[in-house]
Amino acid sequence: MKNTESILKNIQNLKKSASDEISNDSQKSDLEDWRIKYLGRNGELSSLMKIMKDISPDEKRVIGPKLNQLKNDLNHLFESFQLNNSQTQKYADNFDITLPGRNISHGTLHPTTLIIREICDAFRSMGFQIHEGNEIETEKYNFDLLNIPDDHPARDQWDTIWLDLTNNENNYLLRTHTSPMQARIMEKNNPPIRVVVPGKCYRYEATDATHEWEFHQIEGLAIDKNISFSELKGTLYQMARKIFGSDQQVRFRCDFFPFVEPGVDMSILWEGRWIEILGAGMVHPKVLTGVGYDPNEYSGFAFGIGPERVSMLKNKIKDIRNFHANDLRFLSQFVN
Ligand code: PHE
Repeated sequence: MKNTESILKNIQNLKKSASDEISNDSQKSDLEDWRIKYLGRNGELSSLMKIMKDISPDEKRVIGPKLNQLKNDLNHLFESFQLNNSQTQKYADNFDITLPGRNISHGTLHPTTLIIREICDAFRSMGFQIHEGNEIETEKYNFDLLNIPDDHPARDQWDTIWLDLTNNENNYLLRTHTSPMQARIMEKNNPPIRVVVPGKCYRYEATDATHEWEFHQIEGLAIDKNISFSELKGTLYQMARKIFGSDQQVRFRCDFFPFVEPGVDMSILWEGRWIEILGAGMVHPKVLTGVGYDPNEYSGFAFGIGPERVSMLKNKIKDIRNFHANDLRFLSQFVN
């Protein structure tokens, strides 16, 4: 009996030391050492098993099941730690919860888009609708209906990229300004009209820091009964204050565009200098007649803004060619 008790005690001790030890093991290599020490061919378990052949059948009946139980317990212990280890290892390899999240990189709106939206919003708040038009135009809409007849020297103001597309009625070109949309909108709508038309324009000219051959304009048109020059001034002044700040000063000077009378340009006072940002004027009676409006009944004003110029002032951009250079160092500075 004394023998049996001490064997049972040994079994208990082995189980305790094995489980204490495995709980303290944190490394994979420690676990393998543990396996060899306890479950290996010459390990603690098999040396304890050896007593089986030296004990009596009665003792075997008591000790046998205990040893089997011990074997199962140790195997079980080993497997569960092994599983645990491999799972933590997997996470450790791939996942560090202490790292900050990764930024998802996404693009920003183009600076031209941003300034066009800002200017259009200013007009929208004054009751204007937004409309877009074609970049390929006909001579009729780009010039004739705007009181710029063929062979008139005024056409020189708009160096034109003509297209190799001609049919019997039309010569095609890339629009040199957004003004053709004045006639197109008036033809399709009855007054009152208040609309702004943002879009791309093209001119056949050399580029420099302030000129691009591909650029944008925002056309504006307001037609109604009794519209006077003071509405033109008030509307454009208000736009300038919305874009540049409530204390922005503006200056109007006479200018010539065949489709307006009188015609003006508007400059803003910027860092001590007057800088022109748009052309404007009262819609010429010939333009109104050309689209079937009666100039004695309706009057209105029109304007054309260069959004890139506005953005250059606001954002201190020195060269207009940056807008199309596609350089991320430039583009990523504009956050929507
Ligand atoms: N279309 C003119 C230009 O391109 C600008 C303008 C528009 C002037 C409307 C007067 C009225 O220069």
